[in-house]
Amino acid sequence: MKFMPVKLMPVESALQTILLYHQQTKHHFQRYASGPDGLDWKNQPEAFRTFEGCAELELPLLVQPTSVSYKDLYHPEKNACQALTLTNIAQLLELSLGLSAWKQYDNTRWALRCNPSSGNLHPTESYIITEDLEEISEGVYHYVSRDHILEKRCQFSLKKSILPDNSFLIGLSSIPWREAWKYGERAFRYCQLDTGHAMSSICYAAATLGWQAHIVTSVSDTDVATLLGLDRDADFTAAEREYPDVMLLITTQKTDLDDKPFVLKNISLKEIVEQACKGRWSGQANVLSAHHLDDWPIISEAVQACIKPETDELSWCAPALAEPVLESVSDKPASTIIKQRRSAQGFDVSACLTKSLLTKQMLYRMLDLTLSRQTIPPCDVMPWQSRIHLLIFIHQVDGLEPGLYCFLRTDDIENKLKASLQQDYEWLKPEDCPEHLQLFRLIVGDAREAAKTLSCHQDIAGDGVISFGMIAEYQAHLTHKPWTYRQLFWEAGLIVQVFYLEAETIGLRGTGIGCYFDDGVHNLIGLNEGDYTFQSLYHFTLGKALTDCRLQTLPPYDHLQRSEQK
Ligand SMILES: Cc1cc2nc3c(=O)[nH]c(=O)nc-3n(C[C@H](O)[C@H](O)[C@H](O)COP(=O)(O)O)c2cc1C
Repeated sequence: MKFMPVKLMPVESALQTILLYHQQTKHHFQRYASGPDGLDWKNQPEAFRTFEGCAELELPLLVQPTSVSYKDLYHPEKNACQALTLTNIAQLLELSLGLSAWKQYDNTRWALRCNPSSGNLHPTESYIITEDLEEISEGVYHYVSRDHILEKRCQFSLKKSILPDNSFLIGLSSIPWREAWKYGERAFRYCQLDTGHAMSSICYAAATLGWQAHIVTSVSDTDVATLLGLDRDADFTAAEREYPDVMLLITTQKTDLDDKPFVLKNISLKEIVEQACKGRWSGQANVLSAHHLDDWPIISEAVQACIKPETDELSWCAPALAEPVLESVSDKPASTIIKQRRSAQGFDVSACLTKSLLTKQMLYRMLDLTLSRQTIPPCDVMPWQSRIHLLIFIHQVDGLEPGLYCFLRTDDIENKLKASLQQDYEWLKPEDCPEHLQLFRLIVGDAREAAKTLSCHQDIAGDGVISFGMIAEYQAHLTHKPWTYRQLFWEAGLIVQVFYLEAETIGLRGTGIGCYFDDGVHNLIGLNEGDYTFQSLYHFTLGKALTDCRLQTLPPYDHLQRSEQK
């Protein structure tokens, strides 16, 4: 299998291609986006990517919960920066992309991970790139979450240090086939949402160590592919290809905020890429499915249309907002909350209806945590102004009338959105909502049925306490930079991870919802079909989860015989 040419398309045709991809992969009431006619279980993709023939580096597992509490993740000044050691890198990987449990039903077992994934198919692969550290030499390493090991893909040598002191890189890639096997053409969207979740998980895990993650925005996808070894045809042969997503710089010391753009601007990844090209590579990628019954060429076209060229490093800084106003009610260790995160399969309808499971203060806190602040995870990773806003179906929140609400994550979008949405909406801010939260009631009413119908008739969207859709500022952003299509989905995944974790602290549970009727949402709020100013990208629901007693839950790493070092 050859890596697809990473030749950049002219911007105009890339834009048309990605707009078409989005249109073609919408679910409609009368017709779902194209996907397989049934599941080809014989060729279900192998759950884990490995590279045979690489040297392996065992990572230690956490043996105690983190001393940093979940609520202090949002107070980075309280968390001392931990040293850049292999043990701490291991902690970061375990708490972001590592396994959180095994589930078993009869003789079938499947792993869950700290990061959620559409259909639990996990298209996201991760690599770390380090300069010389005491316990880990310079090179490119692939993380295998099942075994909690690093596979050494490339050994290179740098003549001088290139990364800022005490930092390293994490590169993410996607294998679209994993999602396409089940979901067909819509798979490219799910890969991007999953990347957003993975990034968010990395931000939280980094914060347990006092570390911070930053997107390197200047690097081209071609360079990311080369650095991660994704373009090495000989190492993949029949194996499914991975495509570059994002390169993150992990800093382990507090960065002076004024220096942040400067630090990132001065990294010359080109030099590392050059050394990686000359480096010693090893490993052969495993084949995930023996046969691919369906091929979805539109996915390759979308990948191609979204290839990012080299650009200037973005130097946008989040507005100086006060710290989140409302404290978390949970004192639990951060690692406990991160590892217990799960998606709900169904909700206890009567508990959600009759009890005050979610108060307006809890909701305000969640919304507040999705705002970009310079050092607060996970939105601090995004060096651009937020482009995603929430359309919230409030079913049962103590202190708020049920109905349709809208939460704007930037101050300057209200008029534009007002002009695009139904003209008879109230736009009423709840009386005691904190001033900086742009939460508006649009219309009062029972939104359960609408929420459920719009989320592909899934009960979970109507049975909980709230559910929401995410409205992206769309075409204006894509016009000159079609690759930012991917960033919109990343941002959506990033935000949803906030709700996933917050839910766990108040005895509730969430579920990301990738299956929804795109234009159905637009029609509900009055967005004209054919007007691409805004588009709906992702849904989420929150409620009191029902437990499926038929499933057994097993510890994540009992299958490893690993020395415990921490
Ligand atoms: C992008 C995305 C889309 C998802 N879409 C749905 C969905 O439409 N319906 C659903 O029941 N679960 C959905 N899920 C939840 C996944 O099925 C769940 O994350 C996966 O099974 C792993 O389980 P876990 O979250 O408990 O680790 C989605 C998750 C993600 C990240």
